[in-house]
Amino acid sequence: MYLGERQKVMEQGIILEARNITKVYPGGVVANHNVNLEIQKGEIHALVGENGAGKSTLMKMLFGMLKPTEGQIFVDGKEVHFTSSSDAIAAGLGMVHQHFMQVPSMTVADNLILGAETGAFFKVDRKKAVQITKELSEKYNLKVDAQKKVEDISLAMRQKLEILKALYRGANILILDEPTAVLTPQETEELFEQLKLLRENGHTIIFISHKLNEVKALCNRMTILRDGKTMGTYDVSELSEQEISRLMVGRDVSLDIEKDDAAFGKTVFSVKDLNYVDHFGKTRLDHVSFSIKQGQILGIAGIDGNGQSELVEAIVGTLKPQGGKVTMNGKDLTNLSVLKRQEAGISHVSEDRLKYGTAPKLSLEDNMISKVYYTKRLKTGGLIDSKKVTAFTKGILDEFLVKYDNTKQSVSELSGGNVQKLVVGREYDYDPELLIMNQPTRGIDVGAIEFIRKRIVEMRQKQKAILLVSADLSEVLSLSDTILVMHEGRIVGYIEDVKNTSENELGLYMLGVKEDARERIEGAYCE
Ligand SMILES: Nc1ncnc2c1ncn2[C@@H]1O[C@H](COP(=O)(O)OP(=O)(O)OP(=O)(O)O)[C@@H](O)[C@H]1O
Ligand SMILES: [Mg+2]
Repeated sequence: MYLGERQKVMEQGIILEARNITKVYPGGVVANHNVNLEIQKGEIHALVGENGAGKSTLMKMLFGMLKPTEGQIFVDGKEVHFTSSSDAIAAGLGMVHQHFMQVPSMTVADNLILGAETGAFFKVDRKKAVQITKELSEKYNLKVDAQKKVEDISLAMRQKLEILKALYRGANILILDEPTAVLTPQETEELFEQLKLLRENGHTIIFISHKLNEVKALCNRMTILRDGKTMGTYDVSELSEQEISRLMVGRDVSLDIEKDDAAFGKTVFSVKDLNYVDHFGKTRLDHVSFSIKQGQILGIAGIDGNGQSELVEAIVGTLKPQGGKVTMNGKDLTNLSVLKRQEAGISHVSEDRLKYGTAPKLSLEDNMISKVYYTKRLKTGGLIDSKKVTAFTKGILDEFLVKYDNTKQSVSELSGGNVQKLVVGREYDYDPELLIMNQPTRGIDVGAIEFIRKRIVEMRQKQKAILLVSADLSEVLSLSDTILVMHEGRIVGYIEDVKNTSENELGLYMLGVKEDARERIEGAYCE
């Protein structure tokens, strides 16, 4: 280390630095171009930028998962050459990924110690693992159920587990890639308290988020990436949200929704008395009934895990409820397959885009035409016409501002937000009668949120029925004509006068503190 460098570390306390980093992926995509990033010890540093700007790529290099094409990385002023994430962990880094890396069939405690124990003779001591988990969970105030299987815990708890895993491995620099994308407002607040506590204890945190209000509320400084290049590092107090998004996107962004007064047509879709008890005997859907009319956006609010996912699955046909009826345009869909329901006019943007929304290993083209009803449009003389497929794929990807290299590349090569834009584009293009949007803008940058919300309003204008499920209350409030709130599988709130409700009031329903009378809620269903 040069003397000058040592001085810099001492004066500014720079714990982690990326210097002139460039990353070119094998296909030729330049994801980072000459990026400089300095992280001060003990700060929460935000990394923001549009989908595909290169945030995850940069973090993966700092964490040893990818090798920079050019440039240097310094930890505590010393240059490092990580060849794997184990090297990064040994240097005190920890990372919570955009997509969790856990074994769902194992317990929380086993996941915590998995891979961290050293020595070939180590046999997993279950009791000890539970003990360690409990102690660590106490110490950092990150509450988890040590003995539960990961597949049975909430996303919020899975995230706490990821943070604990990193801390258990000795991390003093934590990288969190979009940690709040899967959390409710209440869970986000809780996480922020925990992160602030970690900061007080001397940990350094890099925080990636598309939610600029969160960045303002939590972080000390931020670095903005655009098209793989830095647009500078700032104190968060220096810039307004509007100024940040302008630096990210290169234009002004407005999330204020403009929509005409509602003009509902006839009832298109109904569910009546949906009941579902899962294999643990827990009631997930409890007499859920409602209807949606043409030109109506029906929003469903609720804390994750209160039956929203089961409701959507029961409608699209991937889950079979024990009781109830699903009707579309007077036709009974209850016993029809997923495909038949799609053909009846149901289109669905899934909350878990990598598990259900796409086949990640297949190409963009294959994913675009994966729905059978497209293939007719893309045939020439009975055979699939590859030129048509390419043109069709390009058309949608370009319209929906997906950042991609070519249509033959695999979905797994797209950045998280761009996968979501692809799915929305595909479902939108299908021109359905009922469009189900489950967390449509989760993990998407502000420019793309603006774009997708406008498309949803456009669908409403075209007299489509829309079911919007979202953990983002401001989204539910700004888009919906009518809101239903779910709590423990039941509809507990029916709000027709959306203009006169608030996030706070929705929160009371969501927590089970407030509940409308049965007769009122029954009004959500009509023949
Ligand atoms: N494995 C890969 N192979 C080829 N290109 C890739 C690969 N992973 C990412 N890219 C490309 O690199 C660019 C940056 O992607 P990255 O995932 O770093 O973006 P991001 O800023 O994290 O976006 P998001 O907000 O959507 O998560 C994108 O153009 C993406 O398509
Ligand atoms: Mg990313």
